Amino acid sequence: MAPLQPKPVSASRTTLAQLMQPQHANNLGTVHGGVIMKLVDEVGAIACVRHAGHRVVTVAIDQMMFQQPIRIGYLVILTAEVSYVGRTSMEAEVRVVAENPLTGEQVHTNTAYVVYVAVDEHGKPVPVPPLLLETDAQRRRFEQARARQAFRLQQREQARQAYAADQEAAP
Ligand SMILES: CC(C)(COP(=O)(O)OP(=O)(O)OC[C@H]1O[C@@H](n2cnc3c(N)ncnc32)[C@H](O)[C@@H]1OP(=O)(O)O)[C@@H](O)C(=O)NCCC(=O)NCCS
Repeated sequence: MAPLQPKPVSASRTTLAQLMQPQHANNLGTVHGGVIMKLVDEVGAIACVRHAGHRVVTVAIDQMMFQQPIRIGYLVILTAEVSYVGRTSMEAEVRVVAENPLTGEQVHTNTAYVVYVAVDEHGKPVPVPPLLLETDAQRRRFEQARARQAFRLQQREQARQAYAADQEAAP
């Protein structure tokens, strides 16, 4: 099969904006964290579908920290782009900003990293195009993402070993 043509980071860049309404609230009246997590997963997936030209499934979501509450009536703006690719996996970096639409003031609430795998119609992993790195910042982000991916795979191995040990110990 012919090698896949590299694609620039910009080809995957995706922005999603959603107004936070009462149905997005938690019991304190601010936005429920799960709403943001779902939007992060959706926009990251779209960025990776654009890069891969295939459907994708989420395989890992890194720890997410919410440093600022988001108010109902604010606009949540999520920007995603592919930051790293392996053979069949891709990491999307998703930046989340909350905007007060009355004043235009924006606050960066969190950045999330999500890993997707491109799959064929049978759910089997398929290769993705290489990522064309055009700037020093993109090259730096790629190396940082490579280190995060190595850490995730280490954790996956540890989890597998712990599961196998549990199975052996089970009566
Ligand atoms: C994604 C899936 C198809 C991968 O199948 P698999 O047998 O684990 O395949 P592999 O081990 O070859 O992994 C495929 C790629 O994912 C990466 N990967 C797998 N598990 C990972 C993890 N926990 N973290 C980061 N990357 C991971 C591998 O490194 C590999 O990347 P590469 O091809 O770029 O080197 C399979 O795990 C799956 O279907 N998972 C469920 C996905 C899903 O349903 N998501 C929604 C949750 S509700």
